Amino acid sequence: GCASDGGSGGGGGGDDLITVGFAQTGSESGWRSANTESLKTALSEENGFKLVFNAADNKQEAQIAAVRSFINQGVDAIVIAPITVDGWDDVLTEAKDAGIPVILEDRTVSASDDLYASWVGLDFEKEGETAGTWVKDNFDGQAQNLVVLEGTTGSSAALDRATGFDKAIEGTDINVLDSQTGDFTRDGGKKVMEGFLQKYGNQINILFAHNDDMGLGALDAITAAGLVPGQDIKIVTIDAVHDGMQALADGKFNYIVECNPLLGEKVADLVKKVVAGDSVEKREIVPDQSFDQDQAKEALPTRPY
Ligand code: AHR
Repeated sequence: GCASDGGSGGGGGGDDLITVGFAQTGSESGWRSANTESLKTALSEENGFKLVFNAADNKQEAQIAAVRSFINQGVDAIVIAPITVDGWDDVLTEAKDAGIPVILEDRTVSASDDLYASWVGLDFEKEGETAGTWVKDNFDGQAQNLVVLEGTTGSSAALDRATGFDKAIEGTDINVLDSQTGDFTRDGGKKVMEGFLQKYGNQINILFAHNDDMGLGALDAITAAGLVPGQDIKIVTIDAVHDGMQALADGKFNYIVECNPLLGEKVADLVKKVVAGDSVEKREIVPDQSFDQDQAKEALPTRPY
């Protein structure tokens, strides 16, 4: 990576603070709120940063525009949680040409890895595979019908979770009836699930939602259709945010694979290092666990988010 002028970049920051532009996806989910909170805390003034925060409402063009504005402001470093995998080559090249190091957090990009300094995030494919393995272990051989609520189209989180899940259920007799995006939101999950229930009625045995929020939205649709979530329709989701874990403890969800949003300290550490010109690892994966209903009851009181 290339260091800038030692931490006194533009953006109107104090002279001894590192100015960081953070381009967040938006505020689509409970996971996202926890991730934003974690980065804001770690990139605070008392930790030596001046944070310029932007949330792009899950619009790729708005996020790219935010990154371009960080470059124009001459920030010391840029942090991006990329909404989609594609479309980053130009703006990452512009940052590189301007000598501004870029740290990616959470999701990945398809652009060449010499266009950014480092990425820290989760193994989404493994998360999907863990969810799929739970489905396989519990339902293979029972000719069950499954529907999928996918995350944001073109995001690494949705693409890789689908890959891992499909791999795990391959060769089983689980029948995937349908798979559509709910954009990682409660509202999206509710609407798409309403459509599934209208189309397939009570043929649906299992729901795999790419995040807790879509699963939580689907609960409303399932209940309104006169079905009992967690029983008539078994539900597996990803994230393990508080409301998801509560639904699991209450018996409405059946299994959750964790996705850890607390990446702030690792991001702050990477930013300090790249701005100082120190070498850093290109990739760091933060480990996840998973929970059944009893484990959720046990874990809930001490979950930090
Ligand atoms: O990229 C991580 C995903 O983004 C989370 O699983 C989801 O809740 C968030 O919107």
